[in-house]
Amino acid sequence: MPDRNLISGDRQPDDATFEAGLRPRRLTDFVGQSKLKENLSIAIEAARLRGEAMDHVLLYGPPGLGKTTLASIIAEELGVLFTTTSGPVLQKKLDLTGILSNIRARQVFFVDEIHRLLPDVEEMFYSALEDFRVDILVGAGPGARTHSLPMPKFTAIGATTRQGLVSAPLRGRFGLVLRLEPYNVEELTDIVLRSGRLLQVEIAAAAAEEIARRCRGTPRIANRLLRRVRDYAQVRADGRITLLVAQTALDLHNVDCYGLDEIDQKIMLTILEKYRGGPVGLNTIAASISEEPGTIEEVYEPYLIQLGLLNRTQRGREATARAFEYFKIVPKPQHRDQASLF
Ligand SMILES: Nc1ncnc2c1ncn2[C@@H]1O[C@H](COP(=O)(O)OP(=O)(O)O)[C@@H](O)[C@H]1O
Ligand SMILES: [Mg+2]
Repeated sequence: MPDRNLISGDRQPDDATFEAGLRPRRLTDFVGQSKLKENLSIAIEAARLRGEAMDHVLLYGPPGLGKTTLASIIAEELGVLFTTTSGPVLQKKLDLTGILSNIRARQVFFVDEIHRLLPDVEEMFYSALEDFRVDILVGAGPGARTHSLPMPKFTAIGATTRQGLVSAPLRGRFGLVLRLEPYNVEELTDIVLRSGRLLQVEIAAAAAEEIARRCRGTPRIANRLLRRVRDYAQVRADGRITLLVAQTALDLHNVDCYGLDEIDQKIMLTILEKYRGGPVGLNTIAASISEEPGTIEEVYEPYLIQLGLLNRTQRGREATARAFEYFKIVPKPQHRDQASLF
């Protein structure tokens, strides 16, 4: 089994400071996503020229692709304050009112995991996004009244891994809806080389590319693998990361050549072994591995499809010939062929 901590897209507590140090601060340092960056830089420039708050932005894409990073870059480029919160943290309307009543003009207000806002909190957020007003309850009991207070124009940035869970009314209130695309090996190699420079570790281009191939297409995982490889280089070699050092260290952590994590492997093996390669419905796969269908669809499948291991068809999910080869599973003969034997 692969080292779960190393390749799961989730952020581990000890990663926070490490990641913060490697996080690009300006748009030009943000690797890849060229179309998205172009759209953003136009919006940022226009807002700056007009001296207004930028339109609200909704960012979506699998974990570790750079949503939080982009949100802080936008604030930095606009030269405004950056306040962050997240959907699950805002438990009551009052939590949101508290933050909104302190918002400064033109600042960025980042809401991570925006798909996890509770319905009544989300509803309250609508008026802030659309009319820049916040409803405040004054007094208690029968005499209590709602006051609608105006607030300065600001920029909300929402981030979500689960686009399918963002309600239409919420999505509709964001002027810019931007999707992060999977990174290719070249871009990931650039990210690893950049991180290597920041960490002041000598790394061969071929070694950076090796990490890039084995990071599941995810910058966060690339940085995490680099950290482990750096440890290995310091303790077992002369500190320099050569191709051989990178390969040996990654093998030691059971990171396979595509960096597939435990759930990726479960999804593929279910389709390949239990359903003979498919087609099999998303809900059936989800039930077999006890994951949510939406998470499989929006978080795991994009990378498996990018690798050419999985196809989405009208009849369900199908493993490709490449998947059979990669997992070393011999395709079983179809019923039709068996029948013809008799
Ligand atoms: N395009 C990029 N260029 C360079 N580094 C990146 C890029 N995207 C992400 N990273 C790195 O990956 C880490 C995780 O990114 P983050 O923005 O936290 O992802 P998300 O919020 O989408 O889960 C960041 O600390 C950053 O160092
Ligand atoms: Mg994030």
